[in-house]
Amino acid sequence: LGQGHDMDEQDLIDAALAARQNAYAKYSNYRVGSALLDDRGKLFAGCNVENAAYPEGTCAEANAIAAMIADGGSSIQTIVIAGGHDDIEECTPCGGCRQKINEFATPETRVVLLRPGGHTHSFPIDELLPRSFHL
Ligand code: THU
Repeated sequence: LGQGHDMDEQDLIDAALAARQNAYAKYSNYRVGSALLDDRGKLFAGCNVENAAYPEGTCAEANAIAAMIADGGSSIQTIVIAGGHDDIEECTPCGGCRQKINEFATPETRVVLLRPGGHTHSFPIDELLPRSFHL
């Protein structure tokens, strides 16, 4: 994945589900994977990483975004979020992650939520975070 062909939404879904397999979610048992395509067409994935000190846990989206930034990416074309306790449930990003996505979004950015049965629901970030804060 991530090389040799143009990425499509299914590649992102596959990568998000693969990362979700590695979620470290022993406290909530709610496993989340996220994968994004950046402005250069590169794919980055992340999962939630919980901690015994609960507030130190990190979300899947934040970790995918951090990987993009560390690699020199600058904006998100598409970000997929796949979460749920056991099977996939529609996992809408938490408030903090909406703000983090917004930081690297453009008007074209799509936030894609995986739903049960392999369906998706896509939103522009404006719809998830209206009247967002900008400096
Ligand atoms: N979580 C995410 O990774 N992303 C979200 O958008 C919602 C919540 C994680 C945080 C925590 O590890 C678990 O899901 C339950 O809240």
